[in-house]
Amino acid sequence: MSGATPAGKPLAEDLPVVRRVVDLRAAVRHWRVAGESVGLVPTMGGLHAGHLALVRAASGQCRRTVVSLFVNPTQFGPKEDFAAYPRDERKDRVLLAGVGADLLYAPPVEEMYPSSFSTQITVGRIAEPLCGPFRPGHFAGVATVVCKLLDQAQPDSAYFGEKDYQQLQVIRTLVRDLDLPVRVVGVATVRDSDGLALSSRNAYLSPEERQVAPRLYRVLTAAALQLHRGEPPDEVVASGARSLGEAGFKTDYFAFRNSVTLAPVTDRRTEPLRLLAAAWLGKTRLIDNIAVKSPA
Ligand code: PAJ
Repeated sequence: MSGATPAGKPLAEDLPVVRRVVDLRAAVRHWRVAGESVGLVPTMGGLHAGHLALVRAASGQCRRTVVSLFVNPTQFGPKEDFAAYPRDERKDRVLLAGVGADLLYAPPVEEMYPSSFSTQITVGRIAEPLCGPFRPGHFAGVATVVCKLLDQAQPDSAYFGEKDYQQLQVIRTLVRDLDLPVRVVGVATVRDSDGLALSSRNAYLSPEERQVAPRLYRVLTAAALQLHRGEPPDEVVASGARSLGEAGFKTDYFAFRNSVTLAPVTDRRTEPLRLLAAAWLGKTRLIDNIAVKSPA
């Protein structure tokens, strides 16, 4: 390949792009025949340092890294931001080449969903709480497209961010229940220096809202510490939600959950614990979450 770096990775302008399943499969088959491991990082573009951390994790663990870029229409509700979602493939491609991606898979909508398409994957219980009631159909859209991407790329490992914690658990459930031969790797949330979790949707925040936004993580951090100290969960959760309201958020949920099942916690000494929140600042919906240590 022209302009390849000494390590054999492509330069920005040369990062190969495929748009069809057959071409993706041919590239992956070629690597597999050569005995090379393959990692997949599914994205919807609008890339930032959070996405790039996933790509770095993949290229650190796998010989080859495929990144998919597909703004999946079926995971957006009718009143959500599908049309406004940030799209700049050229910019994304330059960023990806700089962190060790080998191939960009950017299919058009017709390639993923031909007019005859009719299958949908629903993952049941894990998708029901938290974001479930606020985004009807969202996790079915995610599960269906991720199942397709895993089958199309057939990677050894696939990388997802803890930032979208329920999504990560939905995908772990999907992979386990359907015996998909892939290792799911969760990657820690990448944050701005003030604590705000990086998100493509942060671009929608006004300068004033951007000032307030880091409060979400601060409130989660304080509440996680109170829970670790053994304070009563009901009070901690109520006061966390109240603090968000006072800061100007409209809270969808602020919840203390078992980090695997996402069910309410019944025994915080033995269960793995997580605190998760979703809240609006103006027209922007932010989500974040944090691990909670069992009481000492
Ligand atoms: P997208 O929002 O583009 O995110 C792609 C991946 O990047 C997801 O696994 C997400 O959790 C991860 N990510 C986003 N922000 C992050 C951050 N600040 N730190 C670490 N990881 C972060 O999530 C989706 O796309 C879609 O639902 C998808 C899985 C691609 C299916 O369409």
